[in-house]
Amino acid sequence: MSDRPAVRVRPAGQQDVRIVWEWANDPGTREHSFDPRPITWDAHHTWWDRQAADPLTTMWIGEVDDERFGFVRFEGDMIVGFISVNVAPDHRSKGLGSALIAGACDADGRNTTALVLPANERSIHAFERASFRREPVDPIPVFGTAALRLVRTRRSAQR
Ligand SMILES: CC(C)(COP(=O)(O)OP(=O)(O)OC[C@H]1O[C@@H](n2cnc3c(N)ncnc32)[C@H](O)[C@@H]1OP(=O)(O)O)[C@@H](O)C(=O)NCCC(=O)NCCS
Repeated sequence: MSDRPAVRVRPAGQQDVRIVWEWANDPGTREHSFDPRPITWDAHHTWWDRQAADPLTTMWIGEVDDERFGFVRFEGDMIVGFISVNVAPDHRSKGLGSALIAGACDADGRNTTALVLPANERSIHAFERASFRREPVDPIPVFGTAALRLVRTRRSAQR
């Protein structure tokens, strides 16, 4: 039996634009992002509309006890999705992030790649708990920063 918290994963919508922006600007989020600069409301809104219109991008909200606690986005092509995830600051390190990642990957349906800053150990653990496996390759450059690559295939998730 799974020991993950029971989270609900649903598609993100217009009602989530603001809370996702607030979570994105949390200093602990910016610190672990490839571009650590704060995000303006206008830039976020423009970004959101572009994501929502892209057929190869999916966006998800995690809820627990009817409260929103996190956001996941996938972008990529028909075969592989690149994941980004953010959990609300007061909900971190409770097992919710890994449950959200697993649920969103199942909902998205693609094989998934995560690019993570090597110092972000909590994120690496959360992905591993969600059936991602670290690729045995040197860190690859993303926007000039070395990143670890973790991969979750539909097959590995069933093991
Ligand atoms: C990364 C993030 C999504 C993980 O979600 P979370 O709900 O905090 O993670 P979980 O509680 O599900 O799992 C965290 C795991 O890391 C471990 N962990 C927590 N803090 C840690 C630390 N400082 N160092 C190493 N491991 C740590 C936990 O013990 C847990 O492992 P376990 O399940 O084997 O016990 C969330 O912390 C977050 O949004 N952080 C800020 C943004 C970010 O880093 N996004 C990811 C960018 S790639």
